[in-house]
Amino acid sequence: MQLQDILYSQGFGTRRVCAGLAQQGHVRVNGRVCADASERFDAVDGLDFEVMGQAWRFHASAYVLLNKPAGTECSQKPSTWPSIYTLLPAPLRQRPQKGAVQGVQAVGRLDQDTTGMLLLTDDGQFIHRMSSPRHHVPKVYEVALKHPVDDRQVRRLLDGVVLDDDPKPVRAAACEATGELTLRLTLTEGKYHQVKRMLAAVGNRVEGLHRSRIGGLALPPDLPPGGWRWLGPDELALLKP
Ligand code: URA
Repeated sequence: MQLQDILYSQGFGTRRVCAGLAQQGHVRVNGRVCADASERFDAVDGLDFEVMGQAWRFHASAYVLLNKPAGTECSQKPSTWPSIYTLLPAPLRQRPQKGAVQGVQAVGRLDQDTTGMLLLTDDGQFIHRMSSPRHHVPKVYEVALKHPVDDRQVRRLLDGVVLDDDPKPVRAAACEATGELTLRLTLTEGKYHQVKRMLAAVGNRVEGLHRSRIGGLALPPDLPPGGWRWLGPDELALLKP
């Protein structure tokens, strides 16, 4: 693969911009300045390079994990709060169009005040597989409540509650009280404000919401709020439905 195509595929700008970056001596591959934009590299997966001092590793598809902080919106065009996309480096946002997806996109959305695990990718099929209720990917939420939680509320969440816009009940795949005012809830679908609406339906109120796990992958404790990192093949395997 030519150097300019490598840079283009990773989101460093148009092919012309990428060629210019190389020609101006701004690109290093494995530590060596490469000024020839047409220089070819084989086995590009995992290739380490630098663009204007920014270290990057080639990934044919991007799968990343973000620890979403409170006060951010999962929208490219947020209405009130900063967008989660501003937490990611520009190349991830600028990766060229692949199918219907341009740049990395969030796999589902979390509310502005919800924190925790959010996946982003430029792989449209992965987004579809992870989001489709047919695939039953479990998502675990740690919920802080306004009122003490009791056995009856837990039972109702497991048996199913009716939300205003849909006569079909929605149920938690798992639910356990983790304290007087805290609950761990597992859902396999992702309706709008689902956790908050389910808790409201049983007479309680969500005061704080954190997503701690998706499929077999837990939020790594060393990833701070606002931090992101690439997902490795082992982690992806834990996620796949
Ligand atoms: N359920 C909610 O109510 N909000 C979220 O952000 C996620 C699930």
